[in-house]
Amino acid sequence: MTPTSQQRPIGVFDSGIGGLSVLRALQAELPHERFVYLADSGHAPYGERGDAYVAARTHAITRYLQAVHGIKALVVACNTATAAAIHEVRTQCPDLPLVGLEPAIKPAVALSQTGRIGVIGTRGTLTSGKFALLLGSLQSQAEFVVQPCDGLAYAIERSTEHAVPEAAESSEVRELCTRYITAMGAFGTTAGHIDTLVLGCTHYVFAEEELRALIGPAVRLVDTGEPVARQTRRLLQATGLLADPCEIPAACDRMQLITTGSLLPLQAAAQRWLQLPARCCSTATVPADGAGAGAGAGAMVHEANRAPAQ
Ligand code: DGL
Repeated sequence: MTPTSQQRPIGVFDSGIGGLSVLRALQAELPHERFVYLADSGHAPYGERGDAYVAARTHAITRYLQAVHGIKALVVACNTATAAAIHEVRTQCPDLPLVGLEPAIKPAVALSQTGRIGVIGTRGTLTSGKFALLLGSLQSQAEFVVQPCDGLAYAIERSTEHAVPEAAESSEVRELCTRYITAMGAFGTTAGHIDTLVLGCTHYVFAEEELRALIGPAVRLVDTGEPVARQTRRLLQATGLLADPCEIPAACDRMQLITTGSLLPLQAAAQRWLQLPARCCSTATVPADGAGAGAGAGAMVHEANRAPAQ
């Protein structure tokens, strides 16, 4: 039976497992929805690759999710991809409800008491024109300490490859967090200190423990998962695409997680962060031209290795 528009899944994607932090919030906010999550781990990290590369991947994945999975809306759960390509995706797919992410520096201004706000993210996001505009609009209201964290998203990606991270991988995340947080100056709640830290990359939510140990218990950590989930609800409501609240799909019908990289790391991350069984995960190849345009194009996309039902 062909699904109705409301029953079609919401597409969510990131360069890897970082967007699972957004998917977790979406799942809590929208328990009646179906989701297809694409981790582009075979092409990660995006943060240090340059706009042209990230924009090409974003277009390919958008086409793939539309052609193969018939998504009704797309959440770009990646600050770097949003900065590089959201305007173009909006222009090319005017009928696709679209939600992007940007570092939550506006909410941070409202929260900060000292008026000194730290922002961490990928180099791609923090050197983008989109971020410069956002920062420029708020610079009169607070002082921002902006720190690109090269390598951190990738280290986090690798550290979730096992249900219990290997010591070397965890220590790489710890070392990078220490290096970047130390470079930003003093954190705390007294005048002159950074009292609010904005996580401008979806991967960093999964390093919260390491970051918290460095900044202390009183500094606020601000991420975008929950506001993005609320924004997605508003958009679906406004476009008449919200799923029927009487219907709660079964776990694996509800959550389909796909990676362009290796299957095991995604399964470990899905289990660790969303308590999802391995059978919700599969692999796919998303070629540079995505799923192509038009009928039958899905055949160009190879899906394999869906884990057997447990
Ligand atoms: N998680 C992504 C973001 O929010 C990017 C991580 C990366 O691939 O560098 O920007």
